[in-house]
Amino acid sequence: MNRPLVTVRPATAADAHTLAALAIQVWLDTYATDGVNDLLGRYVLSTFTPAAFTAWAEAPGVALRVAQVDGHLVGYALLQFGAVQPLAPGRDTELRTLYVQSPFARSGVGSMLLREARNAAHARTGSDGLWLTVNVKNLRACAFYEKHGLAVTGLTQFVLGDERHDNHVMATPRS
Ligand SMILES: CC(C)(COP(=O)(O)OP(=O)(O)OC[C@H]1O[C@@H](n2cnc3c(N)ncnc32)[C@H](O)[C@@H]1OP(=O)(O)O)[C@@H](O)C(=O)NCCC(=O)NCCS
Repeated sequence: MNRPLVTVRPATAADAHTLAALAIQVWLDTYATDGVNDLLGRYVLSTFTPAAFTAWAEAPGVALRVAQVDGHLVGYALLQFGAVQPLAPGRDTELRTLYVQSPFARSGVGSMLLREARNAAHARTGSDGLWLTVNVKNLRACAFYEKHGLAVTGLTQFVLGDERHDNHVMATPRS
């Protein structure tokens, strides 16, 4: 199969509604594997809002990159600079989100976004090192990050309502 022509560019505020819809779709597709309930519905609708994406597109301490195919957004990466993580000392950029829409998974889009995110981190901070958290049950994402040289450096938890979900902290090697 021919690979789609993918371009990666910085997001603008004009992408905010598209990104909000894309983020909700990917999040539910990844984590709402038992269906959607009130907690999950409230979480995605309050987290992935157009206002949040507008702010991220314009915030100085953040980099937001989008992957585009034929005029449609198919993925995005969100970086937070100056995000100190005791479990990944010396790598002070957090990859807060890396999402690819499922029809475009496994076609190199995530790798492109990760590369562009690391380039953005290097341009901003002088280091392309970064850390992230990923649900321990998200084996696809763990395999993806391991393939890209990140390693588990610790364990943390994502709290949603009364639920606590174990997350790996993963990071690029210390330079
Ligand atoms: C994880 C994710 C970002 C990977 O993006 P992607 O565009 O599918 O990844 P790529 O096509 O660039 O894959 C690169 C490599 O990662 C590994 N990989 C990707 N998907 C994989 C899978 N399902 N199983 C095992 N390895 C996988 C492979 O080594 C792959 O190389 P290959 O296809 O040549 O074997 C994407 O699947 C995604 O957005 N998932 C849903 C949201 C999510 O979980 N985000 C991360 C949360 S922290």
